Amino acid sequence: MREQDFVAGQDFLLAVKKQWTTHMYPALKDQYADAGPEDDVATIAAHMDTNTDYRLFAWFERHLQKMKYSGSYGLAPYHRERQDALVDALLEPLTPDALQLDEHFEQPAYYTSVDIHQHPGGVWSEPVSGLIYERGARTTTPLLNKSHRDLHDRFTDSVLGDERLTTEAPDILDLGCGFAKSTRPFWTALPGSHITAVDLAAPCLRVAASEAARDSRDNMVFRQADARHTGCADESVDLVTSTMLLHEMPDTARREMFAESWRVLRPGGIAVHLDFWLLPTPFDRFIMEGHSKRNNEPFMKALFDSDLPGDLRETGFVDIDIAAFSEADGIDPLNGQFWRFPWTRIAMMKPK
Ligand SMILES: C[S@@+](CC[C@H](N)C(=O)[O-])C[C@H]1O[C@@H](n2cnc3c(N)ncnc32)[C@H](O)[C@@H]1O
Repeated sequence: MREQDFVAGQDFLLAVKKQWTTHMYPALKDQYADAGPEDDVATIAAHMDTNTDYRLFAWFERHLQKMKYSGSYGLAPYHRERQDALVDALLEPLTPDALQLDEHFEQPAYYTSVDIHQHPGGVWSEPVSGLIYERGARTTTPLLNKSHRDLHDRFTDSVLGDERLTTEAPDILDLGCGFAKSTRPFWTALPGSHITAVDLAAPCLRVAASEAARDSRDNMVFRQADARHTGCADESVDLVTSTMLLHEMPDTARREMFAESWRVLRPGGIAVHLDFWLLPTPFDRFIMEGHSKRNNEPFMKALFDSDLPGDLRETGFVDIDIAAFSEADGIDPLNGQFWRFPWTRIAMMKPK
């Protein structure tokens, strides 16, 4: 596949996705409002099931993503054709100590049972998976700029602005770091901090460690580990963070992850997660439950249904603060005009 054909193909899909986000979604929302808003998801679903506009909306959501990954100009065939050169370039700057992979690592069954995001084989399965994920994530939120910077930078700013974080160079643990989109703003803002970033997926960790090495960032470890068993010592970090991990875990695993965060946090330390939880209206919930099915996100609905504050209290956390999060200037997170994720900032403290 020629580079320009791949770029043109992906640009076309992105243009259609923008249309879907800024025209198809608002038109559907208007129809729902005009019909007199229903207040439960099942009633909305029953109405929408026979609505041609909704069916088209749903079809586009499912199939644009499928084409983006697996179509003729998809991310997977493009990267597979170039695998050797791409992986060599990735490994070139790596220092052995920064990347801790486990060749006998056993992936949890929940994680391998579905191709999350419709990523063929999942982000853990082949040498170029991390690069495929990185390229795909540039257009996950098509109204943000392509590097996704607004979201992660704003979230990091909000975490570092938390007055409960009293240390100047906190020791940080980033759970489910992926290719380090979430870790990078922390390593940039806090050059003196020791950062441990864990993920199940070796191909993502290779991208993450390679990026950190290119930024000449040492004092960091990228470890292949489950967020439930991070390998960090008891009471060894000041801040636990994650972005978009909670909705990728079944209920039990998520609660075990909270317990692990509690174990590794120093007294007075904080955990701050960015995920999807607050859904202002039943229509928002209907749309997101549909998204979870159409995008192969099997645990997202369970997160929506969960008693998140109750789970955190039960783990022992205090000062729990859960609030809608605005991903860019000018966006009202409680009344978005266009399709958006229901970003939610979930913060807590381990008592002193
Ligand atoms: C949606 S991605 C988010 C990645 C990154 N935080 C970001 O914002 O770009 C979720 C990540 O969580 C990882 N993951 C899922 N379950 C995990 C677990 N139990 N332990 C560690 N990582 C996990 C996946 O491999 C994936 O890289």
